[in-house]
Amino acid sequence: MFQNRIIQGDALSILPALDENSVDVVFADPPYNLQLQHELWRPNMTLVDAVNDAWDQFDGFDAYDHFTRVWLTGVRHVMKDTATIWISGTYHNIFRVGTILQDLGFWLLNTVTWFKPNAMPNFRGTRFKNDVEFVIWAKYSEQSAYTFNHHAMKQFNDFFPGKQLGCVWTIPVCGGTERLRNTDGQKLHSTQKPEELLQRILIASSQPGDVVLDPFMGTGTTAAVAKRLRRRWIGIERDETYVTAARQRIAAVDPLPAAHPLLKTASREKPRRVPFLTLLERGYLHPGQRLRLGRTGQRTAVILEDGRIQSGDVTGSIHRVGAHLKNAPSCNGWMHWYYRDEDTGELMMLDTLREKVRQTLRGE
Ligand SMILES: C[S@@+](CC[C@H](N)C(=O)[O-])C[C@H]1O[C@@H](n2cnc3c(N)ncnc32)[C@H](O)[C@@H]1O
Repeated sequence: MFQNRIIQGDALSILPALDENSVDVVFADPPYNLQLQHELWRPNMTLVDAVNDAWDQFDGFDAYDHFTRVWLTGVRHVMKDTATIWISGTYHNIFRVGTILQDLGFWLLNTVTWFKPNAMPNFRGTRFKNDVEFVIWAKYSEQSAYTFNHHAMKQFNDFFPGKQLGCVWTIPVCGGTERLRNTDGQKLHSTQKPEELLQRILIASSQPGDVVLDPFMGTGTTAAVAKRLRRRWIGIERDETYVTAARQRIAAVDPLPAAHPLLKTASREKPRRVPFLTLLERGYLHPGQRLRLGRTGQRTAVILEDGRIQSGDVTGSIHRVGAHLKNAPSCNGWMHWYYRDEDTGELMMLDTLREKVRQTLRGE
């Protein structure tokens, strides 16, 4: 009901009021609990614009853990069970967040390391330059299905173009015209995320039209990218200055043309799962009919009424019996079993029938 809107207020009380089971993907960039006690000065005596905002102050780890548990519980309530959640953080908070995620029943999929080549140095030289952040990607539960546009993500592999993308993403810290500034030219927000990061996240895990939630919206990065990628979005943010700036920023964004390649690749659908039994139920095959393993193979199996097949004394799914006969650890039965087309007399791969069923289901 709150789609394409920023709700100004405390995420902890707003999340329980959102519709249950209504969100396809969550991006959350919660306070980090950086515990910065002192101002940081550069060697040239200029003050570092560090994250020492009031919104990042907690009375210790227990208070931070409690806060994390409450907002994650609220987010879980609005997530569809096919949704995934991305949470960004630093070494200060990400491990605590990861533990709580697991305790609440989420299932971790990956942790992306965001490498920031233009990160600020460690001016005092007491530690390594802190040039990474982490983004945990988790699904609703161990059993749940989820969206992953694996092929679309290959376009972001800068080192091996066209190959599978890994978990280290090199993206500069947000700057230039993308960075929102106040009237004094100072950064409006200390932790505005780069749009490139959100673009990858949304293309990886959602389709155009999906609903994206960001409970700590800040300057509206998630919504700006969601709008450009033709996703629907919901944002929550407590601070009025950020809300005002985010609304202006989002209003200025134009959605990409529907035929834009970033939308096309992202909307590549995961093929629908078709149980073998559906082929019998829809009359494409019938019990007693024989299947052949390989177009020119000698081994055959007979189809049973319950959707299993039998070859000699082995009974099971098309995959299991195929693997057994091939003496292989696994076998994609759709690709290896053939049936005889009753009209043409030709031997055809089972997968052609699966595709026919998928086409019919699309039309229903
Ligand atoms: C790390 S920043 C998010 C920055 C954002 N990703 C961006 O690109 O601008 C966290 C934000 O959460 C907001 N915030 C903190 N606690 C909140 C709460 N309980 N409810 C809503 N917003 C909160 C802060 O005001 C801050 O803007």
